[in-house]
Amino acid sequence: MKVDESQRVKQRDNRELTPPYARYLVHLIRPFPDFDPFFIKPLRQKAVQMLQLKPGDRVLDAGCGPGGSFPYLADAVGPSGEVVGVEISPETAINARRRIEKNGWRNVRMIVADARAVKLEGNFDGLLTFAAADIYASPQALNNLFPYLKSDARVVAFGAKLSQRRSGKAFNLLFRLLWKLSFPSTPALSHKPWVPLESRVDGLKVEEYFFGCMFLAWGSIKRE
Ligand SMILES: C[S@@+](CC[C@H](N)C(=O)[O-])C[C@H]1O[C@@H](n2cnc3c(N)ncnc32)[C@H](O)[C@@H]1O
Repeated sequence: MKVDESQRVKQRDNRELTPPYARYLVHLIRPFPDFDPFFIKPLRQKAVQMLQLKPGDRVLDAGCGPGGSFPYLADAVGPSGEVVGVEISPETAINARRRIEKNGWRNVRMIVADARAVKLEGNFDGLLTFAAADIYASPQALNNLFPYLKSDARVVAFGAKLSQRRSGKAFNLLFRLLWKLSFPSTPALSHKPWVPLESRVDGLKVEEYFFGCMFLAWGSIKRE
């Protein structure tokens, strides 16, 4: 059977740019552009609150996935501000674009690119990296994104971590399994995934949730 070039590119994109677990998940939720698990909502709200955004601000959502944080970010920066989502997977970006269309947001924009290499326009007042270990735990991604942040920009990261508590040990197994389904380049799961942020963010604060299996880290950027 003859496979045309566009088909080949799509297959390659799916394999290389969309982690296996996401491939199925994004198709499953595609008919529901506003889908977001209910238990994540309070954490997204807290993460966005920690960004201390003002109307008119520009915020970067790196590893934005299907855009679950967009409603909170768009609300925080208002119609005069801008939300820019960066997502490596073209398949996942389709979901994010559908969310933007459905909600009629004119101040939310998507860039399909690798956060480790993306070139952006202008500067940002805040960086959110929510459940995106490929960004917050990747010195390469942080090195690429931080020059686009204003000198007083706020940075917020939320994600999974290994728990040291006895009650969290079962989740360690689950997360290790999920990690195997991520990109080969995804930084290893650790007890302190925020370490690459510590040298870049002033007085980084960290809170742990769900038996020590999740963390929220925030602060302002460090400029010499
Ligand atoms: C677990 S999802 C979280 C998505 C979203 N932030 C949310 O809260 O729902 C992580 C996302 O990061 C994306 N990602 C992974 N590596 C990336 C990279 N280097 N550049 C941009 N996006 C990336 C993945 O494709 C995936 O959609």
